[in-house]
Amino acid sequence: MDLIRRPRRLRANEAIRSMVRENHVHVKDLIYPMFVMPGQNMRVEVSSMPGVYQYSLDEFVRALQEVVDLGVPAILLFGIPESKDPVGTGAYHDDGIVQKAVRLAKEKFPQLYVITDVCLCEYTDHGHCGLVHEGKILNDPSLELLARTAVSHAQAGADMVAPSDMMDGRVAAIRRALDREGFEDIPVMAYSAKFASGFYGPFREAAGSAPQFGDRRTYQMDPPNGNEAMLETALDVEEGADLIIVKPALSYGDIIYRTKERFGLPVAAYNVSGEYAMIKAAAKQGWIDEQRIVMEALVGMKRAGADLIITYFALDVARWLRL
Ligand code: PBG
Repeated sequence: MDLIRRPRRLRANEAIRSMVRENHVHVKDLIYPMFVMPGQNMRVEVSSMPGVYQYSLDEFVRALQEVVDLGVPAILLFGIPESKDPVGTGAYHDDGIVQKAVRLAKEKFPQLYVITDVCLCEYTDHGHCGLVHEGKILNDPSLELLARTAVSHAQAGADMVAPSDMMDGRVAAIRRALDREGFEDIPVMAYSAKFASGFYGPFREAAGSAPQFGDRRTYQMDPPNGNEAMLETALDVEEGADLIIVKPALSYGDIIYRTKERFGLPVAAYNVSGEYAMIKAAAKQGWIDEQRIVMEALVGMKRAGADLIITYFALDVARWLRL
């Protein structure tokens, strides 16, 4: 009698391996983050994120054609405003850069699902995600501006809003404001488990949103804390979040897992800028196989429990999956 259990039987060749494969990355899981800015004919590559660009609106439309052609269903929009001020006016202005981009995107590609990042840090001259007074980031006064931002995105035609500021009570404030303005059908995807991470470095170059003093540790979570992430998520769920973001993704697989197990809501893993930059840099050196490592990283997020993946690799992945 053979006493050896032989799991290798199901690894014998690609046919059987693919039949018993437990998790997959589909193009329909992907959300592509994009950066829009004023100007014309501009497509500026972010130096720490090769292949990622800041687009003027005309170039943005051109890029969207590619997103749509590749079958990527959704984008997540970030804006780089003409000018910044202490109260982040550009975030909630009717003619702000994101509002314009949303209108254009929905006009040209009505079937594309447009999600907007709701935050103040790209629009404030101090670079913080809320209002600042005497060096402190104010919570409650920021809520009204965040809610206004979300409403202005919905008015422009956004399909979904994603608050990333980490102020307490923002999901409730945004939900209430959306409902009051007749946008009760617009879902809120909350960055519930958002950590104060070093992995956001390249994004701050892309969005021009680095804090001008201090850091974000008084509002974003401390990386060692898993139970606190469950608390933040429970609060957002109570306040009406429809989907949950865990961010970053690669070092936070346990948070993705726990969030999915505990709340059962759709979970999006945000494969952030620093995670992208690391893979790009190593691949450029010829030290790793980019495609293989990206697919392994992303399927790891799915295995941990993510339903959706927000990733700067979305277009590459769509191309690879097509082959
Ligand atoms: C804005 C925001 C950030 C990211 C998404 N929304 C930066 C930050 O919190 O400093 C990071 C995304 C990335 O690194 O890819 N609050």
